[in-house]
Amino acid sequence: MLKDGMSKILVTGACGQIGSELVPALRERYGGENVIATDIEETNPELRKDGPFEFMDVTQRGAIGAVVDRYRVDTVYHLAAILSATGEKKPQLAWDVNINGLYKILEIARERRVMRVFCPSSIAAFGPETPRDNTPQETVLRPTTMYGVTKVAGELLGDYYFRRFELDVRGVRYPGIISSEAPPGGGTTDYAVEIFYEAIKHQKYTCFLKEDTVLPMMYMPDCIKATLDVMAADLAQLERHTDFNLAAMSFSPAELVTEIQKHIPEFTCEYKPDFRQEIADSWPRTIDDSAAREEWGWSPEYDLAAMVADMLEKLGKRYEEGRL
Ligand code: NAD
Ligand code: SER
Repeated sequence: MLKDGMSKILVTGACGQIGSELVPALRERYGGENVIATDIEETNPELRKDGPFEFMDVTQRGAIGAVVDRYRVDTVYHLAAILSATGEKKPQLAWDVNINGLYKILEIARERRVMRVFCPSSIAAFGPETPRDNTPQETVLRPTTMYGVTKVAGELLGDYYFRRFELDVRGVRYPGIISSEAPPGGGTTDYAVEIFYEAIKHQKYTCFLKEDTVLPMMYMPDCIKATLDVMAADLAQLERHTDFNLAAMSFSPAELVTEIQKHIPEFTCEYKPDFRQEIADSWPRTIDDSAAREEWGWSPEYDLAAMVADMLEKLGKRYEEGRL
């Protein structure tokens, strides 16, 4: 992929939690001017510094086509989405952005002969009937959230475009992503980011999930690595395309608190579960990601201890500098 170095990469939803770190990583690898960051809102002005930024609503087919034509885009990282918690508050919006937006991206990609499209799925593709421990690659997909419904449909739609139109669509089922740059955007795993800010600023946090709720999680450097690696994999080596299970670590809020207390002993946490508890209870605890390991060499670097140490170091430094 991108052998000639001339590729133009479009990133949708670029100002979000993942885009804010994926865009710089892509620009470092492929050159700033070759990575076009787009979003419906400009919540991260930093993205204009090293390359182009365009306002683009993924539900507007004409707007997508105009950007793809203007920059002669041949690769798309489609990150624009409504996540699980916001999706339960606004299910119609979640359907529109996650399904109609994806359909329009795929149609433009098919028409313009775009080379490759990345469209992430999620652990939200699973549901309460799915085995929750070491969740298999092939298993029951009956999610009970609108977000999960859109993720399963997105996996199937991407596979359809690959089989029917030979459009190279790829995707992974990300776990909850933990990161120190942009805040998370309305998901059920957001507690695992918020907790660090509160631990540093106030040494206390009120968690919206129960203390023993184990969920699969991943630190952003591993998320970026997985994204770049699956997109760079040799197509001939791939049996699957849009739905790779992906794992790095699994922990409960109580286990995360204990790990933070190793660095901030005075930190305390109380638990007040809200509507997100039911969402979390429908998702896996641990994931079998052997297909990703076998087909494109997936292997994470960060475990719980390494992630916590790095998050506290990065956010602690920003706090000392008055930037938190
Ligand atoms: P985010 O909520 O942080 O960012 C999404 C971005 O999409 C936002 O900047 C938002 O402004 C933008 N957006 C919303 N509606 C739009 C529209 N109509 N047109 C254009 N842009 C629009 O999300 P994220 O965490 O960066 O997630 C990126 C992708 O990864 C999503 O597909 C999400 O489902 C998936 N994912 C994320 C996680 C996670 O923990 N962050 C886990 C699993 C899967
Ligand atoms: N982190 C995401 C969410 O909680 C999972 O897709 O919605």
